[in-house]
Amino acid sequence: MDFSKSLSLVERFHSLIPGGSHTYAKGDDQYPAHMLPYAARGKGCRMWDADGNEFIEWGMGLRSVTLGHAYPPVVEAAREAMLGGTNFIRPTLIELEAAEALLDIIPGAEMVKFSKDGSDAMSGAVRVSRAYTGRDLVAICGGQPFFSVDDWFIGTTPMSAGIPQATRDLTVTFRYNDIESVEQLFDRYPGQLACLVLEPEKYDPPEDGFLNGLRDLCDRHGTVLIFDEMITGFRWHLGGGQGFHGVVPDLSAWGKAMANGFSVAALAGRKDIMELGGLLHDRERVFLLSGTHAAETHGLAAAIATMRVYREEPVIETLWRQGQRLADELLRAIADQGVGEHIQLFGRPCCLVYGTKDAEGEPSQPFRTLFLQEIMQRGVIAPSLIVSYSHDDEAVDRTVEAFHGAFGVYRKALREGINGYLESRPVQPVWRTFNEYRLG
Ligand SMILES: Cc1ncc(COP(=O)(O)O)c(C=O)c1O
Repeated sequence: MDFSKSLSLVERFHSLIPGGSHTYAKGDDQYPAHMLPYAARGKGCRMWDADGNEFIEWGMGLRSVTLGHAYPPVVEAAREAMLGGTNFIRPTLIELEAAEALLDIIPGAEMVKFSKDGSDAMSGAVRVSRAYTGRDLVAICGGQPFFSVDDWFIGTTPMSAGIPQATRDLTVTFRYNDIESVEQLFDRYPGQLACLVLEPEKYDPPEDGFLNGLRDLCDRHGTVLIFDEMITGFRWHLGGGQGFHGVVPDLSAWGKAMANGFSVAALAGRKDIMELGGLLHDRERVFLLSGTHAAETHGLAAAIATMRVYREEPVIETLWRQGQRLADELLRAIADQGVGEHIQLFGRPCCLVYGTKDAEGEPSQPFRTLFLQEIMQRGVIAPSLIVSYSHDDEAVDRTVEAFHGAFGVYRKALREGINGYLESRPVQPVWRTFNEYRLG
């Protein structure tokens, strides 16, 4: 596979864009240095790069594209809306239609406000919770990798440079599936926690009673329960993680897949909290969310079209079924190549990820790099295994074949040492304090 055109652009990307990418998770440090394809276009579950290489894609716009790239009913709805104008000096009719469509599928939510990205929705949720409760502390679920680009979350990561200690001190953490760690926070900070923030599910399912336990504790202590449904939404269940598990948060933030890759996110929840951002109350006003582009007509039209497809077609069932098929076949291939001790699959079928371990059984970035190198050479780009409605049987079969071949090389590298197989420097985790990275 030839990457020469993409590689010839790397320096230019880095000279004009810090990091050469507008999203850290898409950065060059996440891929083998000799294989840095720039995406040119996509269709369904396939992506073509600047050199014309074709890949079956399993990243799907960082989980934002669940129907498939350039999905015709969504593209057509957005196009129609654009022809009628994208942005006016007053709210557009489509804002009401989109609000009704979304609230229809979120159990217990009474009001919604749209934004362009999930970070803003999450930060709006935190701000209004602080205003509603009159408290400053935010409790987040530690170990869940991302909630927002804003300081209340980034301050807790290894990339906290530029964020004052005073701000960092306002965010405390609890552990998933560890209700005692939440009780301890309530004991340690009585009457001080404005909100609990978590994805209702990440890789491990919630243990019996954990989410309900959070609900009870929040009710008892007057703390706002916020679910981040960016990934669980439009994937686990039409009603997101809350619909799947039957636990109703006070507020929830949605984004990613809700408009099949168009930039639409939303904060939804209880009227008495959300209305603080409105005009119909006598309390101090809250700047909940507001943006010039927040309700662009084509984004909302794409969201409405996406929700319609979800309602009329078996999207969620297909994500689970194809994901399960992929997982079953990959587990067979892993066993066949004898790398079961070194490659692990995690997560629900609708949102699989994999881990790579070295010969000593330690998580390994060099082995992750080797694996990416081998699957990409075989026409599959899969930093994770994010299934979409467009991943048909053929895409699954071709992926399993590519993975089977890559597992074979992996096995040899485990036995003989990785150096003879790895063709470039190792990838690195996004969350790190220093770069240790050079071009080329
Ligand atoms: C769980 C979760 N929450 C929030 C966000 C932020 O969403 P956005 O990138 O749309 O701002 C992300 C983005 O990756 C996410 O994965």
